[in-house]
Amino acid sequence: MLSKGLTILASLATLVIGRNPHGPVPNTWPQNYSGIPASNYSPEWQSYFEVTEPLPNVTAMLSRSFAGNMAVDRQGHPNDTLFFWGFEKENGSLTAAEGERSDDPWLIWLNGGPGASSFLGFMEENGPLHVTNDYSIVLNNYSWDKLVDVFWVDQPVGTGYSTASNDGGYITDEDQMGRDFLGFLSNLVAVFPSLKTRPFYLTGESYSGVYIPYITKAIFSTPNPPVNLKKFAIGNGAIGSLSVFKELPTLTVIETYPQLINYDPDVFNYFKTQ
Ligand SMILES: *[C@@H]1O[C@H](CO)[C@@H](O)[C@H](O)[C@H]1NC(C)=O
Ligand SMILES: *[C@@H]1O[C@H](CO)[C@@H](O)[C@H](O)[C@H]1NC(C)=O
Ligand SMILES: *[C@@H]1O[C@H](CO)[C@@H](O)[C@H](O)[C@H]1NC(C)=O
Ligand SMILES: *[C@@H]1O[C@H](CO)[C@@H](O)[C@H](O)[C@H]1NC(C)=O
Ligand SMILES: *[C@@H]1O[C@H](CO)[C@@H](O)[C@H](O)[C@H]1NC(C)=O
Repeated sequence: MLSKGLTILASLATLVIGRNPHGPVPNTWPQNYSGIPASNYSPEWQSYFEVTEPLPNVTAMLSRSFAGNMAVDRQGHPNDTLFFWGFEKENGSLTAAEGERSDDPWLIWLNGGPGASSFLGFMEENGPLHVTNDYSIVLNNYSWDKLVDVFWVDQPVGTGYSTASNDGGYITDEDQMGRDFLGFLSNLVAVFPSLKTRPFYLTGESYSGVYIPYITKAIFSTPNPPVNLKKFAIGNGAIGSLSVFKELPTLTVIETYPQLINYDPDVFNYFKTQ
């Protein structure tokens, strides 16, 4: 499933945003495509990000969408970006001007991992295009963008099509992840200004059960947050790493039934106190 999804994504990505006029660049740099605005992020960037090329195996009419890499504005790491693909609920809903549609919610979806692309959710769960077993693509009648404007975002930096410089540009802890995400949100609302005030729903599953609380912490720690966070939702949330999931029940079982492996309780207790 996973590799099938990623293969399709690779071919989609080439067509989504066209080819880089400068040729291939390392995956530690964001790809620049022709027509990149010279200015800071602003609504001028909407037409740069708008997906206008046809997508392979997609014949049905899709709603307008916007995709690309956006800087997280981390000091000393200008090439650290997050990749997003956002779909409009209706024509013009994402490109509304600042202050418009103030009651109209918008949403971000995050997969977990850590290190999982949110395009797994996009292509197999709640996104508009589903990849089938023979690599054909069908529309998902239950895609969330039928209800609200939705962005699927690859994060943290270095995940999926998101980039990170390999000289310390990756994250070292979840607080860094939260700050990066906040930088991304500030730039996203500069491009789509109605999102500043519209109710924001931050959603995800699995290891985003760790990401989302830290992003929320970063938002609430900011005097003037870039977004109006209304709710968050976590499905099947994780509170730790895969190895912790395996070790926690194992530990409980061998503590309860030492005879199973007949260990020396003194040695065990010694290690427990370390
Ligand atoms: C990409 O665009 C940014 C911003 O305009 C610029 O600083 C950078 O040098 C460009 N990189 C490439 C590889 O063209
Ligand atoms: C969406 O609106 C734009 C103008 O904002 C218009 O040019 C375009 O044709 C519309 N697309 C659809 C599918 O209605
Ligand atoms: C398009 O779908 C067909 C099956 O209908 C598949 O064989 C082909 O690989 C798909 N093309 C791409 C680019 O995924
Ligand atoms: C999606 O909706 C269309 C139009 O109503 C219908 O033809 C199609 O069978 C539906 N697909 C699925 C998978 O439910
Ligand atoms: C960042 O990307 C630019 C091209 O846009 C490249 O020239 C530069 O070396 C990159 N910096 C790092 C630290 O990777």
